[in-house]
Amino acid sequence: MIINPAEHDYRNIYKLMVGVIVPRPIAFVSTISREGIPNLAPFSFFTGISANPPVICFSPMIRGSDGGRKDTLRNIEAVKEFVVNVVSEEFAEKMNICSAEFPPEVDEFEASGLTPVPSDLVKPPRVKESHINMECRLIQLVDVSSKPLGGSIVLGEVLRFHIDDALVDNYKIDPDKLHPIGRLGGPTYTRTTDRFDMSRPQTGEIKPEEIKSGPKS
Ligand SMILES: Cc1cc2nc3c(=O)[nH]c(=O)nc-3n(C[C@H](O)[C@H](O)[C@H](O)COP(=O)(O)O)c2cc1C
Repeated sequence: MIINPAEHDYRNIYKLMVGVIVPRPIAFVSTISREGIPNLAPFSFFTGISANPPVICFSPMIRGSDGGRKDTLRNIEAVKEFVVNVVSEEFAEKMNICSAEFPPEVDEFEASGLTPVPSDLVKPPRVKESHINMECRLIQLVDVSSKPLGGSIVLGEVLRFHIDDALVDNYKIDPDKLHPIGRLGGPTYTRTTDRFDMSRPQTGEIKPEEIKSGPKS
């Protein structure tokens, strides 16, 4: 099947993208409004960009329902700071509550029952239930499209990592203790319990004929 996006409804292209880009990690983002109301929302258009310095990005889209900018984006524009909290399966349902379109005056910590704890370096609080929090400062905001389901890129430098001692050893995070979840299309999520390892080859180890025909088993 060939799909030329311009010939299709953008809502179907969105459906396609969330099935194509899988599995996606989830940035559970805490922000605070200029008036001091905390906000929480999950974003799975999320990845790391740089380790030196550590920079992550995620994408709040323009709301499909009314074409408005999401509270997370407005708060980051106003305050220039946010926290990315890693989602574990134990509080996935509470994370999901925060994906409802609450009006800006609703404190989504209260709405979800999650616990705010003060951050060290930024104004938005961290999520206590999360085993890993990244305190971030906005370094760049790129509006890619202002149409419904268009998106912006929020680039943030991680100023401080908070990591539960029980799940880190020599900078290595133990997924059996973190229980991270990923998002697939629609309402479907995945665990990371079915894993396999592959060491990266050195280029000298791969023979040219294997590059053409694939490695021999
Ligand atoms: C797991 C999950 C991932 C999501 N990922 C995104 C995303 O990458 N971009 C986006 O704009 N909305 C995403 N959403 C929807 C937002 O969380 C939702 O629009 C939320 O109401 C935004 O809240 P806010 O207005 O408080 O910022 C996601 C929802 C869920 C449940």
